[in-house]
Amino acid sequence: MKSHVPFVLISLFVLTVFSVLADSRSFSIDYENNCFQKDGKPFQYISGSIHYSRIPRDYWKDRLLKMYMTGLNAIQVYVPWNFHETIQGAFNFAGDRDLEYFLNLANQTGLLVILRPGPYICAEWEMGGLPAWLLHKPNIILRSADTEYLQAVSDWLAVLLTKMKPWLYQNGGNIISVQVENEYGSYFACDYNYMRHLHTLFHLFLGEDVILFTTDGNTDKEMICGTLEGLYATIDFGTDTNITTAFNRQRRFEPKGPLVNSEFYTGWLDHWGDKHASVDTEKVSKMLGEMLVMGASVNMYMFEGGTNFGYWNGADYDTRFRSVVTSYDYNAPLSEAGDPTDKLLAIRDVIKTFRDIPVGPMPPATPKLSYGFVTLLKVGNISSLLDTLSPQGPVRSQYPLTFEEVKQYYGFMLYRTTLPRNVPEPTPLISPLNGIRDRAYVSVNGVYQGFLERDTTLVMNVTGRQGDQLDILVENMGRVNFGTYINDNKGLLGNLNLGNDVLTDWLIYPLDINTAVASGWLQSDHSEVPPGPELEPGDGPMIYSGTLKTKGLEWDSFLKLNGWTKGQVWVNSVNLGRYWPQRGPQQTLYVPGPFLSATQPNNITILELERAPSHGRILFMDRPQLDNTGQKT
Ligand SMILES: *[C@@H]1O[C@H](CO)[C@@H](O)[C@H](O)[C@H]1NC(C)=O
Ligand SMILES: *[C@@H]1O[C@H](CO)[C@@H](O)[C@H](O)[C@H]1NC(C)=O
Ligand SMILES: *[C@@H]1O[C@H](CO)[C@@H](O)[C@H](O)[C@H]1NC(C)=O
Ligand SMILES: *[C@@H]1O[C@H](CO)[C@@H](O)[C@H](O)[C@H]1NC(C)=O
Ligand SMILES: *[C@@H]1O[C@H](CO)[C@@H](O)[C@H](O)[C@H]1NC(C)=O
Repeated sequence: MKSHVPFVLISLFVLTVFSVLADSRSFSIDYENNCFQKDGKPFQYISGSIHYSRIPRDYWKDRLLKMYMTGLNAIQVYVPWNFHETIQGAFNFAGDRDLEYFLNLANQTGLLVILRPGPYICAEWEMGGLPAWLLHKPNIILRSADTEYLQAVSDWLAVLLTKMKPWLYQNGGNIISVQVENEYGSYFACDYNYMRHLHTLFHLFLGEDVILFTTDGNTDKEMICGTLEGLYATIDFGTDTNITTAFNRQRRFEPKGPLVNSEFYTGWLDHWGDKHASVDTEKVSKMLGEMLVMGASVNMYMFEGGTNFGYWNGADYDTRFRSVVTSYDYNAPLSEAGDPTDKLLAIRDVIKTFRDIPVGPMPPATPKLSYGFVTLLKVGNISSLLDTLSPQGPVRSQYPLTFEEVKQYYGFMLYRTTLPRNVPEPTPLISPLNGIRDRAYVSVNGVYQGFLERDTTLVMNVTGRQGDQLDILVENMGRVNFGTYINDNKGLLGNLNLGNDVLTDWLIYPLDINTAVASGWLQSDHSEVPPGPELEPGDGPMIYSGTLKTKGLEWDSFLKLNGWTKGQVWVNSVNLGRYWPQRGPQQTLYVPGPFLSATQPNNITILELERAPSHGRILFMDRPQLDNTGQKT
């Protein structure tokens, strides 16, 4: 018996140590002292936003390290629902979507995480992160207590938040707080039942011991509709705002607790056709210092913006539809390609005066290479490649169907019918109800006639004979991500008229270009073409291809499409995004080194929608060009 005593004592000792350890990991709000508390001590976060969905996985660690070396102690991360549940009920957390790997890298780097799981995130991301399949229910009221919407949200959050629970700080991970919805007060619905439901779900899946918060814009209306008892109310604002006024507003809704600016804007986004946005470095660093001196916790939006690869860009709708460009550089402290900028150095100088920043050099910019020109060859037009691009074949319908009805949510679809009568004279092809979402490229019997565009070009002329084939390639340019009009169905939303005749009897081809590219089906046969031919500048949607040899150096590069009009580019099997140098301001696409191969020729595929230049060349440069509206040649 005696010999058991030490064992019991040891066990007690071990238990005590463990419970002390467990207790020592805590993160909470100290309402008495107007601050956060981490492990029982006052804590102020200096954070930056970074979106894993906009950065190649191979570069996550590099970007996080640069943020850490700037002196940040936290990052803020959005989770785009549609990136993980593209098809309802099928969840993808692999590769570039491996959120837990990203959290792990952040934790290893020494960064805490402020998680923003939505379900709506805005973020200038396709449909604000909501999956387009939600639109299967006609007139669904998104971001409200709509039954179907709530059911889908619950199913998603059950998967996501269950994964996140072990990552909460008090459970041994690095997530210190979790945002519920996003800027909900800016949405017309103002549905407290929805917010209450989310509140319940978040606690159900994460437990009671977690800081849940909301973020809203700097107006009373937004704070009134966006905040909810039990969710800590924070505010967001940029350099054009009076700090005192904004934090006083937060105080009216949250009389005690830390001051928090959840989105302090270091830069801004670009739309096609608009001026390039930038925010002054001096203003950013001065205001950051002023907020930190007040003891406020601040998240800089963005710290590293990255890229809207593929079809993931969002769009705004104010007076008209405005699509967000491919680059999400955001004029942020780390550039689109992850390079430290002067803005980063200025911010670091400010942070230095508030906390010890890590010793050691800032990791350098990743090397960039100018690979030079690549000449492309024509592979064929969309109509001649339909078997490859649409292996399932068409859906037949008397009237046009939307993308959502055909269950192709992103990219392009081809609508085909015939002319119902002879139209020897130019005759208007009309979208009477402004139902082109978002651009339609029109050919009659293989001859390109022009395009229709949402809100701006609802009529064009065509000529032809009865029975001629009318092909209309429709492009989804990204769903609206903010405001009232987020139910943004794509495709042809209503009938098209030819003069007074309604066009009917459509064949609708869903196009899976990503798969065709990845399968190598769109490579031109270079062996049969003499070297260096001039392109025949065909008009209308065409596929072109070519190869880039990197000579063993897979460095970052920037692709310039001088003389090309508008389209989409793939490098190997990766969909890089949209280009539109004629509209600008973006002129180059970021080509991350990890997308390139050292050992094999890199296959470049381009879908040019309007007109390729006769030189047929594209240029890989060593620097980006994001700020030209209207192309210079
Ligand atoms: C996070 O990092 C800390 C410190 O390196 C480590 O002790 C902890 O186990 C990590 N947590 C997770 C969930 O990986
Ligand atoms: C901000 O507003 C406060 C209170 O209205 C005012 O006293 C202060 O001068 C303003 N600050 C700036 C920088 O304009
Ligand atoms: C597509 O190419 C084929 C074969 O070269 C040609 O016959 C056809 O007219 C073209 N169609 C369109 C819509 O350009
Ligand atoms: C269509 O053609 C008619 C007759 O030539 C012309 O008056 C009209 O301006 C054209 N409309 C468009 C949109 O090009
Ligand atoms: C490019 O395409 C060729 C032919 O299909 C293929 O052999 C090669 O592996 C591809 N290159 C890369 C980097 O995938």
